[in-house]
Amino acid sequence: MYTQSLDLPGQAQQAAPITADLAEQQAAFDARIAEDGKIEPMDWMPDAYRKTLVRQISQHAHSEIVGMLPEGNWISRAPSLKRKAILLAKVQDEGGHGLYLYSAAETLNASRDDLVDALHTGRAKYSSIFNYPTLTWADVGVIGWLVDGAAIMNQIPLCRCSYGPYARAMIRICKEESFHQRQGFDALLAMMRGTEAQREMVQDAVDRWWFPVLMMFGPPDAASPNSTQTMAWGIKRISNDDLRQKFVDATVEQAKVLGVTLPDPGLVWNAERRHYDYSPLDWEEFWRVINGDGPCNRERLATRVKAHEDGAWVREAALAHAEKHANRATAAKAA
Ligand SMILES: [Fe+2]
Ligand SMILES: [Fe+2]
Repeated sequence: MYTQSLDLPGQAQQAAPITADLAEQQAAFDARIAEDGKIEPMDWMPDAYRKTLVRQISQHAHSEIVGMLPEGNWISRAPSLKRKAILLAKVQDEGGHGLYLYSAAETLNASRDDLVDALHTGRAKYSSIFNYPTLTWADVGVIGWLVDGAAIMNQIPLCRCSYGPYARAMIRICKEESFHQRQGFDALLAMMRGTEAQREMVQDAVDRWWFPVLMMFGPPDAASPNSTQTMAWGIKRISNDDLRQKFVDATVEQAKVLGVTLPDPGLVWNAERRHYDYSPLDWEEFWRVINGDGPCNRERLATRVKAHEDGAWVREAALAHAEKHANRATAAKAA
């Protein structure tokens, strides 16, 4: 299902031909969604459903590959061979996640070249969290614990997404994300059992990342007008605010085990709601960062574009190799 092929010229997928009456096709689609079934690439689907999925899956793919950069900065500076090997594997996993997701987007007739171009020219969004800097080794642990932890909370419900290829990609991704979260927690635990300076480094990183991580779940439900439709389509299963609350409730307990303080005086148990309350988030900061003006937006995009340009020869060689094999196969058939 998840083809690893590059976009070959003249090989764009064709949409399923419309053979039956449009109303009938819409009714069949609605019935499939109502019975919680899966929509597959060759099934008829409304244009808006397709567009929403292409946007969401490609933003997700962009987030995975831009997400390689903040931690990639630390591969050469990891404190031990063990931590270096773990971090290398983790960053490589994120590249793999991008690959599964670009492939899932391609099943919707999207061209990977167009999607990547939208990222590189600033037209496409990616997760705001990757525009924050990784100042110390503790940031790498905090990214694993909190950023991958938040990603898991977000992505587990996507394993039940109505679009088959996206749901199946997410099942694979979530398995790897749980390793990412644990390795981050483990790295932090080792530091918390170390020196006072290491404990301070962890606390400083937690202080800087906590609020941006909470914003990873997206704007409050009241400011998310498209959520109702994506939930009706079975793409999104749990609202932004409910996911954020689940994450806060789970993470407070983990912070106690770790021995760090979450930097929010408003974070208190609400016995009536049976959830933790937390302080309002700075949504102006969120919009500023998502719209290109975060601490590292320019650096991230420049690094990504350079990596793409530096890799041009690999893509050209892969295309030449694929064409050679295709020609050979054609010649063999003709013989
Ligand atoms: Fe990932
Ligand atoms: Fe991850």
